Amino acid sequence: MSALMKLVILVPCCFFLVALIKFLYNYLWTPLRIQHMMNSQGIKGPPYRFIHGNNNQVTRMKVEASTKPMSLTRHDIFPRVQPHVHSWLNTYGKNYLSWNGVQAELVISEPELVREVLKNSKKAFLKPKPTLLGSKLLGKGLVMVEGENWVKQRKLANFAFHGQSLKQNMIPEVVASVETMLERWKGQEEKEMEVYQEFRLLTAEVISRTAFGSSYLEGEKIFTMLDKLSILVIRDIFKTRIPFISKLWKTADLVESEQLQKGIQDCVMEIIMKREDKDLVDECKTFYLAGQGNVNSLLGWTVLLLSIHGDWQEKARREVFEMFGNQNPHPEGIAKLKTMSMIMNETLRLYGPSNGLYRRVGREVQLEKLVLPANIHLVALNIALHNDPQLWGDDVHLFKPERFAQGIAKATNHNAAAFFPFGLGTRSCVGMTFATTEAKIALSMILQRYTMTLSPAYVHKPVLLITYKPQHGIQVIFEALHKDA
Ligand code: HEM
Repeated sequence: MSALMKLVILVPCCFFLVALIKFLYNYLWTPLRIQHMMNSQGIKGPPYRFIHGNNNQVTRMKVEASTKPMSLTRHDIFPRVQPHVHSWLNTYGKNYLSWNGVQAELVISEPELVREVLKNSKKAFLKPKPTLLGSKLLGKGLVMVEGENWVKQRKLANFAFHGQSLKQNMIPEVVASVETMLERWKGQEEKEMEVYQEFRLLTAEVISRTAFGSSYLEGEKIFTMLDKLSILVIRDIFKTRIPFISKLWKTADLVESEQLQKGIQDCVMEIIMKREDKDLVDECKTFYLAGQGNVNSLLGWTVLLLSIHGDWQEKARREVFEMFGNQNPHPEGIAKLKTMSMIMNETLRLYGPSNGLYRRVGREVQLEKLVLPANIHLVALNIALHNDPQLWGDDVHLFKPERFAQGIAKATNHNAAAFFPFGLGTRSCVGMTFATTEAKIALSMILQRYTMTLSPAYVHKPVLLITYKPQHGIQVIFEALHKDA
């Protein structure tokens, strides 16, 4: 054989060998090493399976859980919406290691560890790098960025959401948006209404007016495309990525997501052209995605709970009339709505939209009781803590807003990690006051006009689709308090 021939055979063989070693290193050696390292520190979990991790088990458990019926007397949604997590927490303890494909995920629900991670001041924990589809959804918006960029964007967002700006610019827009919704409801009394969709329109209108400076109609195309893109991203989370192949050919979802990303970019640019600032595209998307769905969820579940707990509905209404009479809500009164705050906190505890706070370990880090390897992901699970009977008592699954009568600190025994619907530490929600203000205004204006009861048509099926959503909406029957409502 000539030297040239030998070279022609040897070079591809070497490439193949190197690729094989790299593949086995990433997909076998590294996961097994991490698993061993965590096991030796007392952290157990479902074993790593080659390439797929635990994804097949997760899909199977989710399908199984979704067929089980749910009652409305106990609000125990955790085993239904995150059955794998619920089951593994019970089997392996409050902190366990699982595998999303080849990615190690340390799920944490021990309050001390959650606090240590989320309040870490040494920049040991970063936001996870988005998947290819995820990056199309959130781009370089505030939720995703790190370092200098985050400091800069967060300062601007804090300013946009601070007290005076909220009072002068946002509250009037929220009131006007709720008025538009209530105008639509006229003549619908005593008929069944699907409020989740109603609140989708309302929250989108509010974000359009406050973030885009336009109306819902103008933003409608953008919202529809963002919703479609979110569904693709969620569908992608537990899909196993086959090495090499995913780099060679684009899936149908990826092609569609690229088209959607381009469509959204063009539409948002059209609206904000006057401001000549391309960075705003990602920020507008972020506020819509972070803001709209979460407030939609909070409003929907609060109305459901008030519709089945007439006593709390009556208490809330009394407070609203004492504060505002028949007038529209004003900033000073909104801040003093104590019963309403208690009801919203209890709703956020039982049906809070956040399905876990994700972090990535930058470099290997030494915590008080654990050493964590680089690049492992952490998931601080608020749903687990919010449903923990050790923290909340045996009545943990009951709707009891009176828990919050003396404030959050008293309800949680001064344990910050027992209740964090808006996150914890520096990356906590920048839109919290805006969100709660918007929800209080909408609920006050509804309570001033209507009593509400749950329709017999409603079926209780919460599902996880970025936030926890009612699978078939929330059907409520409204009755006018006054004839001219
Ligand atoms: C009930 C409503 C809401 C809930 C429950 C909620 C929850 C959260 C949570 C848990 C985080 C922390 C995520 C993490 O640490 O990884 C967060 C962050 C964030 N939220 Fe909200 N949110 C709500 C409404 C809003 C609204 C209305 C906006 C804006 C219009 C908003 C904008 C943001 C942004 C930009 C971040 C990222 C902050 C940063 O990384 O510095 N949220 N939210």
